[in-house]
Amino acid sequence: MASMLWMFAHWRDDMRINDADRAWSHAMEHYIRNEDEDLPPIWRFNYGQKLFFWLMLYGGILLVLSGLVLWFPELIPWNLRWLRYLAVFVHVTAALATIGGFIIHVYMGTAMVRGGFTSIIRGEVSDSWARMHHRLWYEQVKGKSSRP
Ligand code: HEM
Ligand code: HEM
Repeated sequence: MASMLWMFAHWRDDMRINDADRAWSHAMEHYIRNEDEDLPPIWRFNYGQKLFFWLMLYGGILLVLSGLVLWFPELIPWNLRWLRYLAVFVHVTAALATIGGFIIHVYMGTAMVRGGFTSIIRGEVSDSWARMHHRLWYEQVKGKSSRP
């Protein structure tokens, strides 16, 4: 549990949505058209990657909580039965959202973004890849700027 909290604290800083991400999200049509050179520079993760992280985190929490209600319905008092109806809705909605996000994530990580999959296998990306996709992070790693 303590290590999970530590891990979350570590990821939270990288995944917080900041002004650079908001500028990036407003220019998303360039991303869709593969005009990456016209996108505003960002840090280690892009807006979509960050949204995916929060979707999986909160979706997972909702799945566990609603899953427990579905698992032990007999422990829910009759006058709180609305909790059971709510749990059915929340469980299925969170399942659809996280499964959808997962499919998009694997598709983008393997088939769509060149260099993405090797980064997971090898644990590193090339200088030019980092500069192209995550310029503020690249400059930070190279010691040219500091974190926001
Ligand atoms: C439920 C399971 C998974 C979760 C919660 C998850 C979560 C994440 C998160 C939070 C990141 C950081 C950047 C981002 O949001 O994209 C990431 C990166 C990545 N994941 Fe996953 N992942 C899962 C499964 C997978 C699977 C099955 C694959 C491939 C077969 C995969 C491939 C990748 C790749 C290639 C990256 C690096 C993307 C990049 O930085 O360009 N992931 N994953
Ligand atoms: C700790 C986590 C979880 C618990 C305790 C849990 C528990 C349950 C229980 C007890 C049911 C009802 C089974 C029945 O009809 O008898 C259920 C149904 C279901 N669960 Fe989970 N679950 C969990 C996580 C997940 C996850 C991660 C997913 C998918 C991403 C998921 C997707 C579903 C779906 C699609 C159903 C069928 C819903 C329906 O028939 O209305 N669950 N779960």
